Amino acid sequence: MQVLQNKKELQETLAAHRAAKMSIGLVPTMGALHQGHLSLVKRALDENDWVVVSIFINPTQFDNPEDLQKYPADLQKDIRLLSSLSENIILFTPSKEEIYDGNVSSKSYNFNGLEKVMEGEFRTGHFDGVATIVELLFKAVEPTRAYFGEKDFQQLQIIKRLVQQVDLDVEIIPCPIEREANGLARSSRNERLSKPTRKAASFINETLKTAKTKFGTENAQHIKEWVANQFQKNQLFELEYFEITDIDTLTPISKVQKNRKYRAFIAVYAEGIRLIDNIALN
Ligand code: PAJ
Repeated sequence: MQVLQNKKELQETLAAHRAAKMSIGLVPTMGALHQGHLSLVKRALDENDWVVVSIFINPTQFDNPEDLQKYPADLQKDIRLLSSLSENIILFTPSKEEIYDGNVSSKSYNFNGLEKVMEGEFRTGHFDGVATIVELLFKAVEPTRAYFGEKDFQQLQIIKRLVQQVDLDVEIIPCPIEREANGLARSSRNERLSKPTRKAASFINETLKTAKTKFGTENAQHIKEWVANQFQKNQLFELEYFEITDIDTLTPISKVQKNRKYRAFIAVYAEGIRLIDNIALN
């Protein structure tokens, strides 16, 4: 596996592959790789000749300095995991000066409200940071396809919108959420949880699954109240938000429409660590 830090070197390597009519998949990550990330990489390997995995902890998308400072990193382990998968992976680990061309700041985007709700509401500037780095990565790599997890469903929808708005020639491939054995959505941040809390965190996905069974027979407001109540009874987890939205507009549901798809979204604090999850409702 090639490991490159330099954008020019990466572009030269990719230009040779492109000239040979080979397809290029891109999997953007912030490292501390787990089975969730690897499921994206495997899918990308199945569908492309070469796969670029980027590892870059993007400072501009963190609204909380402590979260950035404590974000787990283990590059040697990530390299071992990726090299065990295939020789056709190129790992790109730029410095912030390199990827941002010396100007480490976010652009300001308008995604017609997609960026204002849920993660956007509670993490100011988060999606400007995400869209800025993803646009820079797309322009550096010019991938045929790029892979994003439904774990960050709002991010996925925003990236699809970004590609339309900036008119980039890349196909966005959504990938399903990978979970730990107890149902907790895999996340690099799970490493920071104590063992008992990580075990008890099955509560988050269990709550979503029960909300799903209620969807269709109870109205959204009732379900929201029920979820809030479950969290009030639980000392370990603090609910930040629970929303049921249309999957395309991400606006909170008012009345269920037959031909629309809905999802429930949740953000929770456990031991000061922020965890998110979501579930398809219909
Ligand atoms: P990161 O949290 O490292 O996630 C990288 C990719 O892996 C994202 O597309 C995310 O949705 C996906 N992913 C994470 N956990 C997953 C799981 N349990 N199941 C399936 N997919 C999962 O998301 C980011 O980094 C950043 O915002 C990034 C897009 C790299 C921009 O900085």
